Amino acid sequence: MGTSGGRPRPSRYQSLRSSCCCLLLLLLSSGGCLRASAAGPIKTVVVMVMENRSFDHMLGWMKRLNPAINGVDGSEWNPVSASDAASDRVYFRDGAHFVDPDPGHSFQAIREQIFGSNDTSADPAPMNGFVQQARSMSDNMTESVMNGFPPEMVAVYRALVGEFAVFDRWFASVPSSTQPNRLFVHSGTSHGATSNVASKLAIGYPQRTIFENIDDADLSFGIYYQNVPATLFYRNLRKLKYISKFHSYEQKFKKHAGDGSLPNYVVIEQRYMDKKDKPATDDHPSHDVYQGQLFVKEVYETIRSSPQWNETLFIITYDEHGGFFDHVPTPVKGVPSPDGIVGPEPFFFTFDRLGVRVPTIMVSPWIEKGTVVHGPNGIPTPTSEYEHSSIPATVKKIFDLPSYLTKRDEWAGTFEGIVLSRTEPRTDCPVELPSPVRIRQTEANEEAPLSEFQQELMQLASVLNGDHLLTSFQEKVLKRMNVKEGIAYAESAVKRFFEAGLTAKKMGVDDEQIVQMRPSLTSRSSSSSVHHRHP
Ligand SMILES: *[C@@H]1O[C@H](CO)[C@@H](O)[C@H](O)[C@H]1NC(C)=O
Ligand SMILES: *[C@@H]1O[C@H](CO)[C@@H](O)[C@H](O)[C@H]1NC(C)=O
Ligand SMILES: *[C@@H]1O[C@H](CO)[C@@H](O)[C@H](O)[C@H]1NC(C)=O
Ligand SMILES: *[C@@H]1O[C@H](CO)[C@@H](O)[C@H](O)[C@H]1NC(C)=O
Repeated sequence: MGTSGGRPRPSRYQSLRSSCCCLLLLLLSSGGCLRASAAGPIKTVVVMVMENRSFDHMLGWMKRLNPAINGVDGSEWNPVSASDAASDRVYFRDGAHFVDPDPGHSFQAIREQIFGSNDTSADPAPMNGFVQQARSMSDNMTESVMNGFPPEMVAVYRALVGEFAVFDRWFASVPSSTQPNRLFVHSGTSHGATSNVASKLAIGYPQRTIFENIDDADLSFGIYYQNVPATLFYRNLRKLKYISKFHSYEQKFKKHAGDGSLPNYVVIEQRYMDKKDKPATDDHPSHDVYQGQLFVKEVYETIRSSPQWNETLFIITYDEHGGFFDHVPTPVKGVPSPDGIVGPEPFFFTFDRLGVRVPTIMVSPWIEKGTVVHGPNGIPTPTSEYEHSSIPATVKKIFDLPSYLTKRDEWAGTFEGIVLSRTEPRTDCPVELPSPVRIRQTEANEEAPLSEFQQELMQLASVLNGDHLLTSFQEKVLKRMNVKEGIAYAESAVKRFFEAGLTAKKMGVDDEQIVQMRPSLTSRSSSSSVHHRHP
């Protein structure tokens, strides 16, 4: 709907124009509006990145439903001590439940989980240090990391895996934490980051992103956020010319999907902060997986009922494994550094191996029911794998964009093939998904201190509203905020930033500029405090 000719949907404004052309065409012929682009039927790619869970933890037990899935059957185990051949064993079970606190997933912790020691030379990687690493954190952590969800507890995924495609060989791009992996999803690099560095995130990472490649090709993108858009960790996305690409998920996603005006590349951001009336939906421990399931269900059902359904591919993946066991060895050979940037001390990581396997599910009426995708089978290179850079690599193919972003997305496997096997879209896809079961028995704890990730979001918020210029901000505000205060602070900072951006645009400020605000703690007037500088 709403597109003309063979090209993917251009900007929303142009799409209005082209739907008029389309109407005209309809009068002339009975051909209809829906036409495949040169590269296939997909004109809208929707990406959602959940938080911190491994494949086996979330989807491993789906092997019970489909033996073709490389999941678990209960024979998988880890030694209590990886260096002791006679060590007791801990077997993987299906008793996953609500997890609090958070298992280890720093660079060092993951190295120990994958290799059982600090020696990274083993190939294949033994994947035998999960229990040892968990026990170093707390006694009861072992139980958390060595359990997965039985399919009925993640009923939304069970339905999607049965109806559409599951990827059982998709890895995190970096054997490290959240932010480096999230950065890879839309840019094919973390620009050297191997950990979450709040100050760098706040300033913003400078690399080129898929958003810019899409925009330069006269295609459209949109980010539908809640609380704070974490995509603003890419510095370039703060430019005035992109301000209008950010939409409130609650106010706009259903509307745009309903009237067929979703852009070509859609990013859905979760609620990363847990409130009683609006619980977090990102699946990160201690957040309730039930809420994440509800959210996936809502996004699916919204897209399913959209006039754009027949031209949409919806991708759900997880940034990293969050410390949870996975049995598939992480690839340690033939992985190219994206850009030659070496990580910081003490590891000086050269980005030459991947992270732990994570769950990835894809949805489209062009996908055959019950598809299981293993590796990319030696394409484009013999060592290529599916990892987060596969998303920009495939988007490049689907939309026929001129260039790759880095050496990594050039190497990553692409998956456009899953929507190319049919001659017409399926008509049997469910309109509704099952309702998930509640897992956490308690309410959100709004008084809790901010987690590390939430503190990073506050730092971002403080850059958006200028408070980072205050030396007192770090100790006086950030460290003392609880979750509830954090949500209020972040939402108001984001609002001021976008308002100031729109004002600056109206004033005719150059599109390439980034709005810089003065501290909100000293001055509350937003538009009058706008000034700008060259990036
Ligand atoms: C790995 O090295 C660190 C120091 O870099 C040391 O503290 C730790 O005990 C070592 N872990 C193992 C499992 O050898
Ligand atoms: C696990 O142990 C830690 C202390 O080691 C404790 O704070 C936490 O409440 C325990 N969690 C559960 C679920 O028992
Ligand atoms: C996911 O893990 C990272 C550590 O890598 C942690 O800082 C972050 O808080 C986690 N994500 C969320 C949403 O809490
Ligand atoms: C999608 O395509 C199918 C098969 O051609 C058709 O029956 C259905 O009405 C289309 N749905 C939309 C929303 O256009």
